[in-house]
Amino acid sequence: MSETKNIIPQGPVGYPIIGSLLNLASPQRLDWLQALSDKYGDVAKFRLLKREVYLVNHPDLVRELLVQKVDNYTKRAVAFSIVKKVLGESTFTATGDVWKRKRKLVQPSFHKNRISNLGEIMTDAIEDMLNEWELICDKNETVEVTDAMMRLTLTVVVKALFSTALSKKEVQTVADVFTPLLDETNFRASFPIQILHQLRVKKNTAYQKNIDELNSIIFRIIRERRSSAKKHNDLLQMLMEAEDEETGELLTDEELRDEVMTVFIAGHETTANAMSWLWAILSQQPNFRKKVEEEVDQVLGKRKPTAADFSNLSYTLKVFKETLRLYPPVPILPRAIKEDDTLGKYLIKKGGEVFFSAYLLHRHPDFWENPEVFDPNRFVRETERKQHPFAYLPFGGGPRICLGNSFAMMEAVFIIAMTTQRFRLNLVSDQPIEPLISLTTRPKGGVEVKLERR
Ligand code: HEM
Repeated sequence: MSETKNIIPQGPVGYPIIGSLLNLASPQRLDWLQALSDKYGDVAKFRLLKREVYLVNHPDLVRELLVQKVDNYTKRAVAFSIVKKVLGESTFTATGDVWKRKRKLVQPSFHKNRISNLGEIMTDAIEDMLNEWELICDKNETVEVTDAMMRLTLTVVVKALFSTALSKKEVQTVADVFTPLLDETNFRASFPIQILHQLRVKKNTAYQKNIDELNSIIFRIIRERRSSAKKHNDLLQMLMEAEDEETGELLTDEELRDEVMTVFIAGHETTANAMSWLWAILSQQPNFRKKVEEEVDQVLGKRKPTAADFSNLSYTLKVFKETLRLYPPVPILPRAIKEDDTLGKYLIKKGGEVFFSAYLLHRHPDFWENPEVFDPNRFVRETERKQHPFAYLPFGGGPRICLGNSFAMMEAVFIIAMTTQRFRLNLVSDQPIEPLISLTTRPKGGVEVKLERR
C-alpha cells in the first residue's frame, strides 16, 4: 500500500523573505539546481520570495507536465510576463485559446516545405559574411565568433521576414538595438522582481526606447505591405496571408508585430549561441571537424547548399544536435501551476511554478552515457530511437515545441557547411570556455578564433 503514497517534495529553506532568490540569480545557478536535484531527487522544492518553485528533473515527469497535463502548467510564469513586455501576446507568450488560435494560424508558415523556400536567403547572408572573413583572413586578424554568429543569424531572420524591405542602415539599427534589448531582457528574467525593474528608471527608459524603435520599423513595413499588391517570398507575406479556416480571420497589425518580434528574438540568439559553442568544440576536437569536412567535401564540393542537400549532410546535423545537447540555448524553462496536482507521486501545489532544465536533463547520468563527452553518434538513428524523447529537449516538447526548429536546423547546417568549405576556425586561447547562463546559454567572454583557409 505504501507504494502508492504521495511524496511531498523537499528542498532548502533559503533566506528569510527572499528564499533562494540569490542562488537562482547567481551565475552558478545551474550548479545549484544540479545540487538540489542530486540531494532531493526528481522533484525538489525551493522558495523565491512568496512563490514556491518545484524543480522537476526526470524526463517522465517533464513529459507529464508538457504533454498530458499541459493545460495545468501554463506559460503564465513570471519570466514569461517579463518577455511579454517585448513580444506582446505572441505564439511564444500567449496561453489558452489565444495561443491555440495563434499557433494554428502561424504554424503553416514554419512548415519544412515553406522553410525550404528561405534557403537562398540563408546562403546569401552566409556568403556575405564569409566574403568579409576573406579580408579578415588576409589581414591575419581574429574574429569574435559569438558576435559574428549573432549578426549573421539576425541578418537571416530580418531577410527571412522582410526580404529586402529593410535598408542596410535599418538592419544596422535593428542590430544596434538588439544587443542592449536582449541583455536587459536576460537580466530581468534572471532577476524576476518586477518592482526592482521599475525603479531602474534610466534603464527602463532606454529599454522602452529600443522597443519603440523596433516597433516603428516593423509597423512601417506592415503598412507598406498593406498598401501594395506586390507579393513577396518571405515570412511576413506568409504570416499576412495566414487565414483562420473557420472564420476567415487574418492576423491584425498588432498581432503581426508580436509574431515578427518573436521571430526576431526567439529565432536568432538561440541559433547564434549554439553555433558559437559548435565552433569552439570543433576547434578543440579536430577529429570531429575532419569528419564534417569530409562530408561537406563529398556532398557539396565547392557549390552552395540547397534545401535538397539537407538530408545528405547528416553527420553535420548530428554535430549540431550534440552541441544543442551539451549547450542547450534555452537552459531552463518555467511553467505556472494552475491547480493542485501530482507529477508522478510528487504533490504539486497551485500558485507556484515548476522549472525544468534541458541543461540538466541533457546531462542526466541515468539517460546519457558519459554525459560530459561530446559524441555526435548519439544521434545515429538507431541510438536516437532508443533515447527517452524527454531527455533531449533543446526545442522544448509537447504542443508548445519550438515552431522554428526546422528553420534553425537548416540554417545551422548551412552555416556549418558553407563555413567549412572555406575555413577552419581555430581558438585563439586554450582556456576552457565557461557557459554564462541567463535566459540563454552563452559562452562567457565570447569565442575568439583565427581563420585558416582550407
Ligand atoms: C537553435 C535554435 C532554437 C532553439 C534552441 C529554440 C528553442 C525553443 C524552445 C526551448 C522553445 C519552447 C519554449 C517553452 O516551451 O516554453 C521554443 C519555442 C518557440 N520558438 Fe524556438 N528555438 C530556436 C529557434 C527558433 C527559430 C529560428 C524560431 C523562428 C524562426 C523560433 C520560434 C519559436 C516560437 C514561435 C516558439 C513558441 C512556440 C509555442 O509556444 O507555441 N525558434 N524555442
